Amino acid sequence: MDTFKEEQFQLATYKKMPIVAERGEGVWLYASNGDKYLDLYGGHAVAGTGHCHPHVVKAIGEQAGQLLFYSNLVYSEARARAAEKLVSIAPDDDMKVFFCNSGTEANENAMRMARMSTGREKIITFSGGFHGRTADAISATFLGKYRELGKPNVPGHLEAEFGNVESVRALADDTVAAIMLEPIQSMAGVHMAQPEFYAALRELCDERGIVLIYDEVQTGVGRTGTWFFASRHAGANVAPDIITLAKALGSGVPVGACLVTKAIASQIKENDLGTTFGGGMLAMAAVTATLEAIENDDMLANVRRVETYLRSRLREVEQVKAVRGLGFLLGIEFHDKAAPVHQKLLERKIITGTSSDTKVLRLLPPLCLQEEHVELLVDALS
Ligand SMILES: Cc1ncc(COP(=O)(O)O)c(C=O)c1O
Repeated sequence: MDTFKEEQFQLATYKKMPIVAERGEGVWLYASNGDKYLDLYGGHAVAGTGHCHPHVVKAIGEQAGQLLFYSNLVYSEARARAAEKLVSIAPDDDMKVFFCNSGTEANENAMRMARMSTGREKIITFSGGFHGRTADAISATFLGKYRELGKPNVPGHLEAEFGNVESVRALADDTVAAIMLEPIQSMAGVHMAQPEFYAALRELCDERGIVLIYDEVQTGVGRTGTWFFASRHAGANVAPDIITLAKALGSGVPVGACLVTKAIASQIKENDLGTTFGGGMLAMAAVTATLEAIENDDMLANVRRVETYLRSRLREVEQVKAVRGLGFLLGIEFHDKAAPVHQKLLERKIITGTSSDTKVLRLLPPLCLQEEHVELLVDALS
């Protein structure tokens, strides 16, 4: 294929790797020239179940032959199944779901629900956080220059310091509707706060009537070795009021979702939220099959086991200064710049992710990654 054809006809908004992706299987991505890549990036954390998991492919194929789409004006078995399955794995099984199409849209709707249910307008988010590129979500994004791209920003967005509850407390007055955070800040270079921070945010929200939103677009759907970051770190009373999801939720079929507590759900009325494609049958078949595949293949336990192995092997690599994160959302910090490492790994047919921290590479591999694949990475790094 002529790789320049795409550039001839598509806006040049993405920095691309020199790969023409043709097919995928598990942790492997095959290029049109016959090259085979170990995919430790999962196409932006989307290939959670691995590329073309047979259970997901079969479900999508069957649904495609039956009904591709009908809107929310009718009931659907496929939608009911996906909603039931997603709610059954939520940290609180009293939650309800709203389906949409992407991560940014899930965050827009989460903030809107917070404003509707509190009657307040302001939103607190954190320096280093990334929440998407639509107007409200980019205004909530205090990472690097992204916010600038969304000028003029939506008013009422306040910036607190990630990990510092006092900085939040100082802003959290009775005009604040929500506090929203990536529980692990991924694009910023994979940063996690101390467990006390999450507990303190929950307490503060309870005390001041504020909605707590976890943006789990990256951390959700098994990536941290449990279904959600919220479930792993929940402890007593630490679950958020809204969890937003996208990326791995449909194994590559675009879908986003907000999981919402019953208390907030009860305040959302007909026509308050909506989107044409949300809850479409093809996406719903993908959601159900994705969650089933993770369950059937015991991928959550796999993430926890292989994470331990990966960390121990990376500790033996001299150039690695630190490994941060949880499960299969890991940031490898090098003593020096990470870009040349990213490039050299690519030459050795291993795809990793960069981050806005120039010394950090990100790993967001499929949840089926095995020890033998870790060895390929460690060999290449060494
Ligand atoms: C934490 C987080 N939130 C939201 C988004 C936006 O998701 P989408 O690109 O599906 O709109 C992203 C995308 O990278 C993300 O990483």
